[in-house]
This record gives sequence, C-alpha cells and structure tokens, in this order.
Amino acid sequence: MAFCYHKPTRDKCEVCEYLEKNIKEEPIISTFKGKASSANNYPFHNWYNFVLGYVPDFPLYIINKYKINPKHTILDPFMGTATTNVVAKDLCIPSYGVEANDYFIGVGKTKLTWDLDIELLVELKKKITNRIQKLTSEYNFNKEEINLFSEFDKQKKNYNELNKLRPEGLGERYISDIPFAKLMIIQQAIKEVVDGKMPIEIYNFFHTAFSSIIVPSSNVSYGPGFGIKKPREDYNVFDMFEQKVKRMLSDLESVKDNPKRYTKFEVIHGDSRHLSEYIPTGSIDYMITSPPYPGDHEYTKYTKLELMIENNVMTNLDFRTIKKRMLVGSTTNIYKECNDRISVEGNELITEVTNEIQKRLDEDGATSGYEKLYTKLVWEYFGGMALVLSEALKVLKPGGAFSLLVSDSHAFKMVHIRTAYILRDIALKIGYSDGLIELWQHKKSTSHSYNLREEILTITK
Ligand SMILES: C[S@@+](CC[C@H](N)C(=O)[O-])C[C@H]1O[C@@H](n2cnc3c(N)ncnc32)[C@H](O)[C@@H]1O
Repeated sequence: MAFCYHKPTRDKCEVCEYLEKNIKEEPIISTFKGKASSANNYPFHNWYNFVLGYVPDFPLYIINKYKINPKHTILDPFMGTATTNVVAKDLCIPSYGVEANDYFIGVGKTKLTWDLDIELLVELKKKITNRIQKLTSEYNFNKEEINLFSEFDKQKKNYNELNKLRPEGLGERYISDIPFAKLMIIQQAIKEVVDGKMPIEIYNFFHTAFSSIIVPSSNVSYGPGFGIKKPREDYNVFDMFEQKVKRMLSDLESVKDNPKRYTKFEVIHGDSRHLSEYIPTGSIDYMITSPPYPGDHEYTKYTKLELMIENNVMTNLDFRTIKKRMLVGSTTNIYKECNDRISVEGNELITEVTNEIQKRLDEDGATSGYEKLYTKLVWEYFGGMALVLSEALKVLKPGGAFSLLVSDSHAFKMVHIRTAYILRDIALKIGYSDGLIELWQHKKSTSHSYNLREEILTITK
C-alpha cells in the first residue's frame, strides 16, 4: 500500500486521471490468480517478513520470463530480507545480495543457509527451552502477587529486574514490560547455549528466530507506516519463539535431501552505490530488486526494535551511520554532505517534477523544515539510483539485464512522480541499450483516491 507520512494538501492528480483513462493494461499480478499474497505464506521467506518487502512472485516472474537458470548468477543490490535470493536458491541459481541495514545481514544469511545439521539444532533447541524454563521459574511475572507479597516472596525475583536491560529510547510504549522481560529471558538462554560456542550459522539461526518475534511481541504496528498501537500487557512470547523455531526446522527438513540446499550465495554488507567494490566486474547475468522509491520512507525505522535489541544499535550516531549507507529516500536521512544529485544534474524529467513540487510549496507558503527538503530529496534519490545503475553496468555481463520493481509516488505535495519512467530515462543516458516498463500492480493509497502504478523496469546492458 502506498504510504505518505505527510498528508497531501491536494487530492487531485491529473497524471493519474490521464493514465487511468488512456492506459488499459492488465496488471501482471492478476495472472497469479490471488496466489501472490504475503511472503508469510511461503517456506523460508516466512522466517522474517519485512513490511516493505515484496512477494516471491515478482522475482519468480522475472526468472521465468528471462529463462534464468542455474548456469546464471543473480544479484539483488537492495537485498532486504533476501526474497530474491531465497527464490533463486530454491531454483538452484547462485546469487549475491548487497544490503546496507546491519540487521538484514544476519537475517539474509540465515534464510539462505539450508545445509545445517538438523539433529544438532534440535538438541540445542531442547537446551534453550530448558534454560528458558529454568530462568522463567526464577522470576515472578504476576504483577498483583508482586504488589501483595513483595515483602514475603524472597524466592523469586521481580520480572522488572529484566527491564533494566532496556536500551535507552526503547520505552514501554514500544514494548510492554512483561513481553520485554520474556524476550530478555530468551535472549539470555540463547546466549548461554549458543553464543561463542557454536559456528556463526547456528548463532544466526537462533538469533533470527528470536529477533523475528520482537515486533510481534511489541506495541509497534506497520499499518502501513510505522506506528504505535494500543499497548498490550502481555503476549505469548515463549510460544511464539517455540513455533518459529519449529517452522524453521520443518523448512530445513523439507530440503534435507535436495541438492538445492547447497546452492551458492553471498551476502554483502555494503552500499550499492559502490557495487563494483564488492562484486567482480562482468560476473552477473541478472539483477532483480525492489529499490527504495521516493515515497518518504525511512528504512531503519522499520527495524528499529531489532537493531536496538539484536545489533546493539543504540545511539542516534549509530543509526546515522547506517542511514548514510542508504539511498536518500526520506526527509530524515538527508545530510549536509549528500551530493548524489551531481550524477543527474540537468535531467529534464527530474527538473520538471521538482519545479512542480517547488511551485506548490510556494503556493501553499510551506515553511516547515521537512517540506523545504522535498526537492533536494527527489534529486538525491534519483542521483543515488543513477550511481547504482552505473555500478550495475560494471558488474553485469554484456547482454545482462536489471529488473527493478518501483512504485510511482505522490509523497510530495501530490506531485506525480513516475519513478520507473524517470529511472529508464537515466539508464538510457548512462548507456543501457533498452528499457521495458510493465505494470506489476496498482497500489491502494490511504491518503488519496488514486491507485498508484507499481511497475517493473527492465534495462539491458
Ligand atoms: C524495498 S526494500 C527491499 C526489500 C527486499 N527485497 C526484501 O525482500 O525484503 C529496499 C532495501 O534497500 C536497502 N537499501 C537502501 N539503500 C541501500 C544502499 N545504498 N545499499 C544497499 N541497500 C540499501 C534498505 O535497507 C532496504 O532493505
């Protein structure tokens, strides 16, 4: 669903009206006959589902369309939770993933490691469950009992002791005290059984299972933007963990005797504006991704809890370090030193869009700090994407193709940004030979009545 942080002051869009009237094409997604639903319904993908991710049907569509096979190598330069890579692995196609967000690195590696020793995992899970039970028995989780008998019950510790472990800035409005304490017990149990004693792949397995239940145990909602819902005092946190590990073990079991479990992959923590520093020149046959789009999304916000609890990302400075590795996609990750726009300086389509945004800002007498950044954001976003497209040209083989799933945007004063159309213009100017745009789906919006186009742009080297 298209999302907009800052409510538009207008509700009419001539571009949408023109497109709706004049372009009658069936969205590709409709050919999936309702199958293309949440990634939660798919094995491996459901180990951790990213709210801004996409369904496996998109990479599958591209793989089938271009007859990509195990002799090819795929790259997703905005890997996120590795949807493209998991689809590729399932078809025995080797892949690379590059991602800027620290948290997704562990998640991506876990989702792609299918050759773990299942018996060992089962044994470790038993030990972790025993530790969870033992630790839980040491605490009193009953608030009333604590109030009434605190003087008498010296046998058990107050669960609130565990809330002293809360990272600063992660208050009760994000996660209530009891679920937080329970999460700390699971984390402690995993630490005691696994951390420093087992190979990194085993560490990743249990830590992904754990971190995937942080948001479901919290008061955070993504519907569609980052929000805080009515706090719940408790959740069945231990059961959620138990079920998640079970699900993951059963997925591993399902590929136990299948050669696909050994399909090669490499997950790289980096900034795709420097792709050729990580990926050998001319080594990639196809690139399939959904990049950030100019929709005013601040991507670290969507993994704030996991980054704090799992990756020890605590301070604003820590968050800024990650944000600087990312493309500018929101008014909250523009910094003084940003200068990606230089790579698209003078582009007529971007000039047209940003002039229109500025005109509407002037008409509305907009003075707020974030609104003043709108045009800079749009220039920086397309400038950053131009850098990624240039780097992609270096790592692609001649004849190789790059498919990007992007949505149009109304995020800035309701000016219609035709993302795929502008990216194609940039790509052809950089030296790609061809650019095909297909309608993937129409996305509903909460802030206006139009359905924005989500399109696949495929450019060829
Ligand atoms: C739309 S999401 C991709 C979703 C993903 N394919 C999935 O399956 O979850 C865009 C991703 O790009 C990442 N990103 C943003 N800027 C980046 C950059 N410069 N280099 C690498 N990754 C970046 C974000 O952290 C986010 O995970």
